[in-house]
Amino acid sequence: MARFDKVTSVMGFRPLAKRALPAPLFHYIDGGGDDEWTLRRNTEAFEDYELMPRYLIDVAEIDLKTRIFGTEISMPVFLSPTGMTRLFHHDKEFGAARAAAKSGTMYSLSTVGTTSIEDVGAATDGPKMFQIYVFRDKGLAREFIQRCKAAGFTSLCLTVDLPIAGNRERDIHWGMSMPPKLTLRSLASFIYHYKWALNLAKNPGFELSNVAHRAEALEGQDTSLVQYVNNELTPSVTWDDVGWMIEEWGGPFAIKGLQSTDDAKRAVEVGATSIMISNHGGRQLDGVPAPIDCVAPMRDAIGDRLELIVDGGVRRGTHVLKALALGADACSFGRPYLYGLAAGGQAGVEHVLKLMRAELVRDMMMMGWRSIDEVQKSGVQASRLKA
Ligand code: GLV
Repeated sequence: MARFDKVTSVMGFRPLAKRALPAPLFHYIDGGGDDEWTLRRNTEAFEDYELMPRYLIDVAEIDLKTRIFGTEISMPVFLSPTGMTRLFHHDKEFGAARAAAKSGTMYSLSTVGTTSIEDVGAATDGPKMFQIYVFRDKGLAREFIQRCKAAGFTSLCLTVDLPIAGNRERDIHWGMSMPPKLTLRSLASFIYHYKWALNLAKNPGFELSNVAHRAEALEGQDTSLVQYVNNELTPSVTWDDVGWMIEEWGGPFAIKGLQSTDDAKRAVEVGATSIMISNHGGRQLDGVPAPIDCVAPMRDAIGDRLELIVDGGVRRGTHVLKALALGADACSFGRPYLYGLAAGGQAGVEHVLKLMRAELVRDMMMMGWRSIDEVQKSGVQASRLKA
């Protein structure tokens, strides 16, 4: 039996990740802001919608290909940007990027990633997005844009929902810091997960590779994510900054973190090509709506003028189809692939993407849709149970 044959859904990797990682790291991935209402709502909100299939259609051939950010991807799901990846597995960003490329979909590298733009650029020929956080030194964003051009990145996104770090109480509880350090509370968990520690000793090296040379480097100091974000990132990013970034980049540009229709209209005006509807995986402001609930109102407000990505809570092929039927162009996810990475490195991420693809093919067949352009609004409706 192949290594992950018993894992039958992407969330099947969550318990494996929990087993592989010391508690502070698992909860850093798994947790959200305040009471985690938004975190839970992101996935639960999909239950407010039902699919309405059509039958007696020849669905022998299913084509999941679609175009997003100016490039073709092999299915309407890609990997969201996530930080600190080296902490979860030594395959780090390389493993995730190579798994995405192998699967024909897009990888997104975070500003607070642990592999450089140049190294990720050289690692695969697949479509790649870079996610920008704006530091107090705004010149760093200009530098990122130039480096992304040189390294062959295909798109950029600017994350806007982090003017201050969210209140992640699990991180406070477990003393999550960068690099991870032992606390009295986490000691037993680090001992129990000794393989993780041995692995770190064998493959040392943790740095925020894209910013280590400019912002406060992390080596030699323990800092919480909250301290780091609040010290280094600027709370003063505005629409004017979006304007100059779009101009300097000149290619596909997404704003990540918008939820309101007014902001979506503003994104059209400023020249963005896409919106990643996102609440940072429920890790920032608690109490905001699930991305799936924002799609239809945004689509109504802006028509076809921008691509819409649902980023948040996507765990099933049926979630993706609901999002597309409501007006999204694609979906992205972070936690599911990080669970896969923590459990099995690149092979784990490959398996996550394989499961998602298999679900999408099966679900498309049962919906009577043979290709992404056959996905129709009439295939989704408000759940009658919730009415
Ligand atoms: C970083 O972006 C995080 O959400 O932890």
